[in-house]
Amino acid sequence: MQSIQAYHFHHKKALIRVDFNVPLDGWGRIADSARIDRSLPTIRKVLDDGGSAILLSHLGRPEGVKRPQFSLVQLRPYLQDRLGVPVLFIPDYTSTQARKKIAQLQPGQVILLENMRFYPGEMTGQRSFAQTLAALGDVYVQDAFSVCHRAHASIAVTPLHCKDRVMGFLLTEELRHISKLTTEMASKPFTAIVGGAKVTDKIQALHWLGKRANNILLGGVLANTFHQALGTSLGHSRVAEEQVRNARTLYDLLQKRVNLVLPTDAVVVPHTGEAVPTTTAQIDTIPAGCSAVDIGPASRQTFSDIIEGSRTILWIGSVGASEKYQEGTQAVAKAVANATQQGAFSCIGGGDTGKAVRRLGYVDKVSYVSTAGGALLAYIQDSDLPGLTSLVRSLYSSGLPVSLL
Ligand code: 3PG
Repeated sequence: MQSIQAYHFHHKKALIRVDFNVPLDGWGRIADSARIDRSLPTIRKVLDDGGSAILLSHLGRPEGVKRPQFSLVQLRPYLQDRLGVPVLFIPDYTSTQARKKIAQLQPGQVILLENMRFYPGEMTGQRSFAQTLAALGDVYVQDAFSVCHRAHASIAVTPLHCKDRVMGFLLTEELRHISKLTTEMASKPFTAIVGGAKVTDKIQALHWLGKRANNILLGGVLANTFHQALGTSLGHSRVAEEQVRNARTLYDLLQKRVNLVLPTDAVVVPHTGEAVPTTTAQIDTIPAGCSAVDIGPASRQTFSDIIEGSRTILWIGSVGASEKYQEGTQAVAKAVANATQQGAFSCIGGGDTGKAVRRLGYVDKVSYVSTAGGALLAYIQDSDLPGLTSLVRSLYSSGLPVSLL
């Protein structure tokens, strides 16, 4: 594998795996373009060297079915605008006609392929699908750290079939920053704030955090799930039922090792779905017909005090249920910014959290905002992510299951 700085793309067709899995609003407009923006330096380097770019990405989870709301064609206007060159969109790159078109690609030109996940072979890591992709280019560039934890074809198998493999600028930057969290030398106190909705990935990561962090502050559905595991009734609040038992076991384990902090109060709304003013309640007095949608004022204070006394901070997942309930997330962002100003290293992960930090104006006041959520959590537990190992392993000694080769 070679460094992107040193690699010369002159007359090469670069297959660039990007993560353009960006949030879209109801009209297909990009609600947060950070992932696209941060891939641009890699694409520009290829073009400036006199190469051409073939962009591979997924969008959402269409599960192998072609659905218009997941089409990457929606991103083409923005991409063209940012790159300042026309972007050719190829809907079905497995057809002979499309492959001919791609073969005629000239230096300086850019092609965006349709959503990888429209093809079931992507998610299963199918060899023939991966080879079809590999045959389109001369060099594979991995720049999608945020999806490197998936053993999907375009991530973990296509590179095995490309002679030249390169890490893009964004991937390089992500690894440089995130490795500051995994080193034994990470300054203490180390505080992790973990919220958001994807509970299963986070429960696993809490095991690792329990060995490294001094404080773990929980918010969002994750906190609700722990409360329920401890027998507290949270009315109609969202809970990851399938993780309640794991949460109970984990609670006992973490309690012995770290300062585990659950919210003691919450912002609550009636479970009617109507826009009504919020109230606050102690966590054990949430009325049966209400839902907790954010951490309450006492919890905001407790979280802020701990965060401001920290030297290393990892924050993944908003503590409020959505952008409508942002007081908790705002308080956490402010405390992280204050700690950073005092010299702490702070790393923010997860699409929604990054978006919130940008929206609330804290992006330049924290040390690093990653484009990754699940991949970041997976990486801190085990840096051998499929998308990273496939860059350094050879086809015949990859150690990957034979089905992937
Ligand atoms: C993300 O948004 O975290 C990445 O694009 C990966 O998406 P996935 O969780 O659907 O694999």
